[in-house]
Amino acid sequence: MEHGLQRPYGRFQGARWLGATLAVAVAGLTLGGCQDPDAGGAPTRWMKPNPGGHGGVEPLPSIEARPAQVSVAVTLEKAKVHFSKLPASVDNPRNPITEDKVALGRMLYFDKRLSKNHDLSCASCHDLANYGIDIREKNGARTKTSAGHGGQMGDRNSPTVYNAGLHIAQFWDGRSRDLEDQAKGPVTNPVEMAMVDEASVVATLASIPGYVEAFGKAFPGQPNAVSYDNMANAIGAFERRLMTPGPFDEFLGGKLTALDEAQLRGLALFMDTGCIQCHVGPGLGGTEYKKLGATKDWPGLKDEGRAKVTRGPNDKFMFKVPSLRNVTETGPYLHDGSIDSLEEMVAKMAEYQLAKDEVPPDELAALVAFLGSLKGTLPTEYIAEPTLPADGPETPAPNPA
Ligand code: HEC
Ligand code: HEC
Repeated sequence: MEHGLQRPYGRFQGARWLGATLAVAVAGLTLGGCQDPDAGGAPTRWMKPNPGGHGGVEPLPSIEARPAQVSVAVTLEKAKVHFSKLPASVDNPRNPITEDKVALGRMLYFDKRLSKNHDLSCASCHDLANYGIDIREKNGARTKTSAGHGGQMGDRNSPTVYNAGLHIAQFWDGRSRDLEDQAKGPVTNPVEMAMVDEASVVATLASIPGYVEAFGKAFPGQPNAVSYDNMANAIGAFERRLMTPGPFDEFLGGKLTALDEAQLRGLALFMDTGCIQCHVGPGLGGTEYKKLGATKDWPGLKDEGRAKVTRGPNDKFMFKVPSLRNVTETGPYLHDGSIDSLEEMVAKMAEYQLAKDEVPPDELAALVAFLGSLKGTLPTEYIAEPTLPADGPETPAPNPA
């Protein structure tokens, strides 16, 4: 519960206060905006002085223009209550990050020999150069769910691994407690990487001399350093630094110009419309479970979500609220990949999670613009594919069966 994930206020209190400050923000934005009816759409004076009128002397900011800056600052203060900047990593006391672990985890993340037919690695379904999702296509569009061993299709959409260390738990239904635990799942899952069992994974790793050395370095002093748990620990340590700070973090850090006008308006709407009932914290999500179809039944929903894990009737159709970091890049959306367009996704959220049937098109566009400010920079060097250690004489051959 670090990183300010706790929600600091009650729903209604928050909404009222936000409503009031939004009015200020919107008024300010209009004043500071680019459209000045008298000047036929010329930029406002304080942003760009009129070259003809002032003999080259730059005028001081006009009085009307000042509220714009004030209101941006107000929006920032408000935003800081609900969100926070991405940390450089999310640490797990159970698995402290070390450089040797990260280096090993990176190799394992890219190694297809962790799959039965040596044709799938974590990177196949979570492509780090493409925002950590599965970008493989069929008939010209990204598949809604991912193909695993032998082309078998899973039943859920591959979420991004970026910023995933922030989540309360892993998977759409939160059935795995953390990244280290999660990394054990796909390797032996028959519709994913399909290794026969943990022992065969360990045998494969132990057959590769470079891995024996790397595990020894990453887990010094352990007699059985090459183990299934340590494979997962190394991958987890690598993932814990997969963070993508972007313009929104600069804004939260105090750079008032980091968001453009549409994004600022979208941010104010995001808070005022009530998206922050669920999408909060540094990830704008990942902090709790909520029902898909909170205010109205979601049509055709089959996957019961968290109820499959807890068997609790109250958990039917509950899913982990996804982080919205990089969401412009990570479609298709939802646990089943059923929604292709972000505009449609946002409109459906308003309708089914907040009982707002009609979001005016300009507001929808502003919300989507704001989501664009959550697109961060990929850590190019950190994610560069490493050279993998060579097979040993005993390393098993690929098995397509
Ligand atoms: C065949 C495709 C496939 C492969 C290979 C694969 N994954 Fe996934 N991954 C998925 C899918 C699908 C989900 C969501 C499943 C669910 O929620 O039930 C997922 C979920 C995750 C999550 C949870 C993210 C979140 O937001 O909850 C993490 C982390 C992750 N995978 C990491 C890995 C790692 C590490 C590997 C390699 C050891 C790996 N994956 C291999 C498809 C894949
Ligand atoms: C009552 C809680 C709640 C509210 C309010 C809410 N959301 Fe969501 N949102 C969710 C849940 C839960 C999911 C994932 C459901 C699933 O995958 O089946 C989700 C999914 C999304 C997604 C898709 C993300 C992805 O990676 O698939 C976007 C985008 C989104 N929400 C944006 C918004 C916006 C914008 C608002 C405000 C208009 C909003 N949400 C309001 C709970 C909420």
